[in-house]
Amino acid sequence: MPDHTTVLLLGGTGPAGLITARVLLERGHRVVAYARNPVKFGDLAVTFPATFIPVQGSIEGPTVEHDLSSALLSFPDSPLSAVVSLLGPNTISWGGSYPFAAFYARILPVLKEKAVKRVMVLSTFSKWVDGDQFSLGRSLAVFLVTVVVPSAKKEMVAIADLFATSNLAKDIEWTVFRVGGVVDGDKGTVGAGYLGSPGFTWSITRTGIAAWVADEIESGSSEWVGKVPYICNVG
Ligand SMILES: NC(=O)c1ccc[n+]([C@@H]2O[C@H](COP(=O)([O-])OP(=O)(O)OC[C@H]3O[C@@H](n4cnc5c(N)ncnc54)[C@H](OP(=O)(O)O)[C@@H]3O)[C@@H](O)[C@H]2O)c1
Repeated sequence: MPDHTTVLLLGGTGPAGLITARVLLERGHRVVAYARNPVKFGDLAVTFPATFIPVQGSIEGPTVEHDLSSALLSFPDSPLSAVVSLLGPNTISWGGSYPFAAFYARILPVLKEKAVKRVMVLSTFSKWVDGDQFSLGRSLAVFLVTVVVPSAKKEMVAIADLFATSNLAKDIEWTVFRVGGVVDGDKGTVGAGYLGSPGFTWSITRTGIAAWVADEIESGSSEWVGKVPYICNVG
């Protein structure tokens, strides 16, 4: 990755997103944060005036591609290197409809055109992946989610399916990282792999997500490119 990595951050206004923005900025990256409610970024633009640009925009509606393309011109001297998305449902309702997978389908051609190097997108451990091991605890958790918030679960699984099976993501170095419970707390040790790996737990701290994503971008590693790992705190 170049010295000045420019990262497009999506879903940056939730608690995990705010921590991720700060971690990326403190590590010297430039961040364009595209959000429907940028006021939630608080004083980040004051603290990092040269490297943080919040952009107001929707992930639905007729102008998404145009709005996003404009946002990506925020640092004209530093082309977009990576996209990090922590978009996910934060208003939970039984019959809600969620726009995330459709949004990714719309922006992938834009990202391809901009020759973005790495795309990292959050999904859920409700998505079964070859390599996962069966566990009763996970099955019960997935059952519960399916009953309580079926459309949110379907949507987060659809995100993983879009990247794994659609031609839209072809030629892009994508990673869909799956999470279980998302909690507050210290970064801890973060593991990436498959459900049921030794020491893996059912949750990850928000600081753990931020650190893992930033490490992954900086490492330039291809280990998880084109894959759907589960990330969690390792006990
Ligand atoms: N808490 C858990 O146990 C758990 C479990 C599994 C997965 N997750 C996922 O993990 C991620 C981080 O969780 P968190 O609790 O730190 O943050 P969060 O509050 O769930 O953050 C969700 C982010 O997505 C954005 N968003 C949601 N719906 C949107 C829409 N229709 N249009 C545009 N933006 C939208 C939110 O924007 P606004 O700020 O404008 O609302 C926010 O930036 C989330 O994606 C969450 O769904 C959480």
